[in-house]
Amino acid sequence: MRVLVTGGAGYIGAHACKALLKAGHEVVSLDNCFRGHTAAMDRLMPLAAGRLSFIKADICDEPTMQRVLRERTPDAVMHFAALAYVGESVDQPLLYYRNNVQGMMTLLEACRVAKTPRFVFSSSCATYGQPPSDMIPVPEHCPQVPMSPYGYTKLVGERLLADFAEAQARSGVTFGFTCLRYFNVCGSDREGVVGEDHTPETHLIPVVIQAALGRRASVAIFGTDYPTPDGTCIRDYVHVEDLADAHITAMNAIKHKTASAYNLGIGKGYSVRQIIEVVRKVSGRDFKVIEEPRRAGDPPAVFADPSKINRELGWRAKVTDLSEIIASAYRWMEKHPRGYAS
Ligand code: UFG
Repeated sequence: MRVLVTGGAGYIGAHACKALLKAGHEVVSLDNCFRGHTAAMDRLMPLAAGRLSFIKADICDEPTMQRVLRERTPDAVMHFAALAYVGESVDQPLLYYRNNVQGMMTLLEACRVAKTPRFVFSSSCATYGQPPSDMIPVPEHCPQVPMSPYGYTKLVGERLLADFAEAQARSGVTFGFTCLRYFNVCGSDREGVVGEDHTPETHLIPVVIQAALGRRASVAIFGTDYPTPDGTCIRDYVHVEDLADAHITAMNAIKHKTASAYNLGIGKGYSVRQIIEVVRKVSGRDFKVIEEPRRAGDPPAVFADPSKINRELGWRAKVTDLSEIIASAYRWMEKHPRGYAS
């Protein structure tokens, strides 16, 4: 298939481009490079044998999006382009709605004109907010009540897609979509071609690894008074390569009128303190840990029930060992002290 990957130069998008190329697909990667890296595309080009093209553009740029979809007529869109920091979204909600919601509307309008038949949407477990305790592990039918503007932008994205699909069906246009609700994505490509390079870096695992590598003075634990066994937040950490494979599995399964949502996680939660311990073990290094107040918008405990995607599409995370996940992130960060720039 020819696949348009928005946000293709970002962390998850670049891993998806790589997985698509390996699976024999043609990839049109589009990214505004606000937080994405053209270097990721340069590193993927040798693997692509002419099947990868890169367009530097913003999903909010309507004429460009219309032109790209019209000229490239993708068989599927994988839509990753979004701002994705929970804390930042609390401080700058309008920025998040503009990028994530308005951007998606512009993209869908271009899909409407080009009659794009398949759409895979990068959604989030942030759409669930803090699920009730009898719904952890979280199934897909858990009520979606976000706790942050970021979570709301993803929930609106899901709704937009459902309404859009309905309208396409009424107009007799072939269309199907799948929303993939990620839990906490982490790790790096184990072949070392692409990896995680965020500025600013706020995600727990890379932040802790930076401390282990001496690139920051300490790690702060945001909140030690949560109602969890060790008082720190619990999350489900899923390896980025497993996540990329799930996108291809989901894309291949989309038919006319498919309207699915799946959780992508390993089905097990780890606390902030547990992550810190595993980084100490994997790196063999000690570092300073300080305790700080809770961060706005953080739910205490969230981890997935990933059984629906396993049952319906046969996907399950292959990397479920936390040490292995963290080791892949560690290897990339040790080798690339300044990310793609090194
Ligand atoms: N944390 C710390 N110290 C840090 C960084 C994070 O204690 O320096 C804590 C956070 O408070 C949170 C946990 O570690 O409890 C994980 O935080 P991350 O920032 O790594 O991830 P989030 O859970 O906030 O957000 C991530 C993605 C979102 C996604 C969300 C779903 O960034 O896109 O997971 O839970 F929606």
